Amino acid sequence: MSSADIKKEIARRRTFAIISHPDAGKTTITEKILYIGGAIREAGEVKGKKGTKAATSDWMTMEKERGVSITSSVMQFDFQDLRINLLDTPGHKDFGEDTYRTLIAADSAAMLIDAAKGVEIQTRKLYEVCRLRKIPIFTFANKMDREGKDPLELIDDVENTLGIKCYPVTWPIGMGGEFKGLYHRLQNKVYYYEKGKEEPEIKSVTGWQDNSIKERVGERLFDKLQEDMELLELALGPFDKEEFLAGRVSPMTFGSAKYTWGVDLFLELFAQHSPPPMPRKTTSGELVDPYDDTFSGFVFKIQANMDRKHRDRVAFVRICSGKFERGMKVKHARLNREIRLAYANQFMAKDRETVEEAYTGDIVGVNDSGNFQIGDSIFVGTHAEFLPMPRFSPEVFAKLNIKDPLKRKALQKALQQLSEEGMVQMFFDPFYGKQDPILGVVGELQFDVLLFRLNDEYGLEVKLERQPYSVARWPVKKDGKLIGSAIHGGTKLYMDHNERPVVLLAKEWDLNWLLKENPDLEFKFTGE
Ligand code: G4P
Repeated sequence: MSSADIKKEIARRRTFAIISHPDAGKTTITEKILYIGGAIREAGEVKGKKGTKAATSDWMTMEKERGVSITSSVMQFDFQDLRINLLDTPGHKDFGEDTYRTLIAADSAAMLIDAAKGVEIQTRKLYEVCRLRKIPIFTFANKMDREGKDPLELIDDVENTLGIKCYPVTWPIGMGGEFKGLYHRLQNKVYYYEKGKEEPEIKSVTGWQDNSIKERVGERLFDKLQEDMELLELALGPFDKEEFLAGRVSPMTFGSAKYTWGVDLFLELFAQHSPPPMPRKTTSGELVDPYDDTFSGFVFKIQANMDRKHRDRVAFVRICSGKFERGMKVKHARLNREIRLAYANQFMAKDRETVEEAYTGDIVGVNDSGNFQIGDSIFVGTHAEFLPMPRFSPEVFAKLNIKDPLKRKALQKALQQLSEEGMVQMFFDPFYGKQDPILGVVGELQFDVLLFRLNDEYGLEVKLERQPYSVARWPVKKDGKLIGSAIHGGTKLYMDHNERPVVLLAKEWDLNWLLKENPDLEFKFTGE
């Protein structure tokens, strides 16, 4: 394959993740997107038929019994000329640090909000990671078939809660039982939807004032559309792509994932504006050109196989430049040696298929016998070591009590290994040194898996002793200098595994107090 062909393949890659709060409809919209993209034949394949909530809670048991996760980590499909990678961001019970890390592997995100509920807590946290990375973000307001917040109120909610501007591209006419359709501001078309009909009726109009809309939807809904549009026209200028790419403006669309209303319009918008793979920074401060012919990538997730008979694991690599070929030899930056990427999988909906080649933006699953840690870089040719994976504020904290005190050393060693793997974070009280760490995880499931692995792999029987914290923040001086040995406000400083100071707080609200007491400090959500 010529260099020009490789560049062509790279240019059509798009890699994104959906961020949302549980129940906003992520599974439903994912399914509809895959259906429209032709990756699944029938809506229902991802989620399963009726009663699939059970599948979500069954996941843990299946994970434990069968080993490798049954949930797919990335789904690939074609839309228009693009090859799109949709990364899974586990929510519900599976929510964990992996969910945040996935966003590091994405080039853009789609924020899905329940139109009745607005921006909810988990969305806000995930959005925070997008904001830190300044990745462009689309917004889809879901469940328009139900009575929800007024669309203008919804925009206010997004803007006030997240501090990002919305740019509505479609606008709903009515909602709930009265939902008639979407006015497309950029196309001058109205998409009229009806329950039970797969395809919308599409009508070209002269603009939102067009009388044909009034005849179709009635005076009241038409008047509301006029009011809304007048306000929007006043408030919004033209769409500014630069602002969007910098993550400051979010193109917004409305619809209903359940009835497939507006999902294709969202995809069209995504196809038109989503960025191709972007350059990635290395530890030496250079940017790796995504169109470079030579391969490079980093590991953002490791799926441990919990089946005793199959100890292998899958390392998920985000390709940052060039072309990947099955069986290729690469240099492992941390281990400083060559390894062969013998087995690779790509995940299409539920099926794993063997990948022969993949390009920048794609994700490949590499079978790993213990060579990889989260954040590891691999490359061919010129040395490329990507920035280390940040650690994200845990939300659940505990200490471990070990039954057999003679095994304390073994426990320390096991925790050291598991923390390097990215399974758990450790925080030390500087007074006691490296003993008896406080452990932190983002999601409860991580603790379940930790206890399982300590027992299964290290033969250690431990009990969790909960600690009354729910937030970690890394204080740094605003001028970039290191902070001294103490901060104001009577909060103790712990050390993380890299000996960076960190505070552990009971509630996020406690942060306000610390900010007031330490005006020269910033309290970061991530430890970099
Ligand atoms: P999640 O992955 O974000 O957690 O959400 P999921 O898609 O599982 O959807 C959560 C619930 O919201 C489901 O209802 C789903 O059918 C419903 N839902 C999703 N999109 C829409 C929409 O556009 N309109 C309406 N009215 N509902 C929507 P459920 O009752 O929990 O499950 P089910 O029996 O309907 O499958």
